[in-house]
Amino acid sequence: MSGVDAFARFGLELPRIQLVDRVTPVEHFTFDGVTVTVKRDDLTSPIYGGNKVRKLEYLLGQARHFGKRSVVTTGAYGSHHVLATAVHGGRAGFEVHGVMVPQPLNAHVIENARADLAVGAVLHFARTPLLVPAVVAATQARLRLRGRPGYFFGHGGSTSIGTLGYVSAGLELADQINAGECEEPSAIYLAIGSGATVAGLAVGLAAAGLTTRVIGIRATPRVAANMAIVKRLVRGSLEVLQRGSRTFPRVERDALNLIEIDGSQYGNGYGHRTRASEAALAAAAEQGLQLDPTYTSKAFAALLARRAPAMFLQTLSSADMKPLLRMAPSIPRWMR
Ligand SMILES: Cc1ncc(COP(=O)(O)O)c(C=O)c1O
Repeated sequence: MSGVDAFARFGLELPRIQLVDRVTPVEHFTFDGVTVTVKRDDLTSPIYGGNKVRKLEYLLGQARHFGKRSVVTTGAYGSHHVLATAVHGGRAGFEVHGVMVPQPLNAHVIENARADLAVGAVLHFARTPLLVPAVVAATQARLRLRGRPGYFFGHGGSTSIGTLGYVSAGLELADQINAGECEEPSAIYLAIGSGATVAGLAVGLAAAGLTTRVIGIRATPRVAANMAIVKRLVRGSLEVLQRGSRTFPRVERDALNLIEIDGSQYGNGYGHRTRASEAALAAAAEQGLQLDPTYTSKAFAALLARRAPAMFLQTLSSADMKPLLRMAPSIPRWMR
C-alpha cells in the first residue's frame, strides 16, 4: 500500500501530503522465550519516522487544502510531535511554529529541541500548559499581521484529522495479516500520549473486522490521555470518514471495545523513568530496538510484564539524527 491512499478502497479522497513511503515491516523478536512481533513504525520515513508522520500526512494535507503557509503546534521541550512537524512541515514548505512547555531535561530531550531549531522551526516559550492557549494566540496574531495565519493543531497532532493517519495504519496492518506476514495478534501494546494513535489504530482494525486488543500504556497525565479523549477521536475520525464515504463501516462501538488504557507504568510522571522502563529500554537495546525514556520504554515494560506473545507498535523514529545535530544550534536560554 506504500504511497497509495488507504482510504481509496472506500472511494474516499482526503487531502493528504504523502510522507510515509512504505508499508512498515513486521518483525519477530524473542524476549525471555516469548515472541514479540514489532510493527516497525519507526520506519515510516527515513528522514524522521515514528507515529507522528502518519498523522502529519493528513494534518499537513488539510493545511495545504486550506491554503495555509504556516503551521502552529505545541508540545513539551523534547516533543517528538513538534520535531516531526518541524522536519516534515518544513520540507513541505510550511513555516513551523512550536509552542513549548517545560519537561525534565535529558540528552534525548535536548537533541530533539536542537533538531527543531536545525530544521528552522520557530520555538516559543509557555511556562505552563495552562499558558499554551495564550502563547498560541499571540503567535497566530503575529502571523496574521504578516498575512499568513497558521493552521493550528494541538499536542501530539491528536485531532480528528490526525487520527486518520492511524486508521490508515490499522488498515495497513490488517492487509499484512491477510497477506500472511504475521498472525492476528491478541493484543497490540503502544504508548499513549494524546490518544490519536490508539484511537485511529482501533478504528482501522475494527473497520477491517479484526478483534485485536489495543492496549495504550499511559505516558502522560490522565487529563491528557483518557477514555473520554479517545472516544472523541474515534467518533471524530469516523465522522470525517463517513461524511466522505457511504461504505466506510460503522464501527464506533467495535473500535471502543478493543481499547484499554493502562496507567500502571506511569511512575512519578511524564518523562520520569521507572525501574521497569529502564530495564525494558536495556532489554530492547540488546536486540537493536531503540526505545525512549518517556513513551516507548514504558509501553515495552508493560508488554514484557505480560509474559505472553503480543505485538508492539514501535512509535519512536529510528532515523539517524547525527547529520542534523552536527549543524544544530544549542537550546535556547529559556529551556535551561
Ligand atoms: C514516541 C512516541 N510514542 C507514542 C506517542 C503517543 O502517541 P499519541 O500522542 O498519539 O497518543 C508519542 C507522542 O505523544 C511519542 O512521541
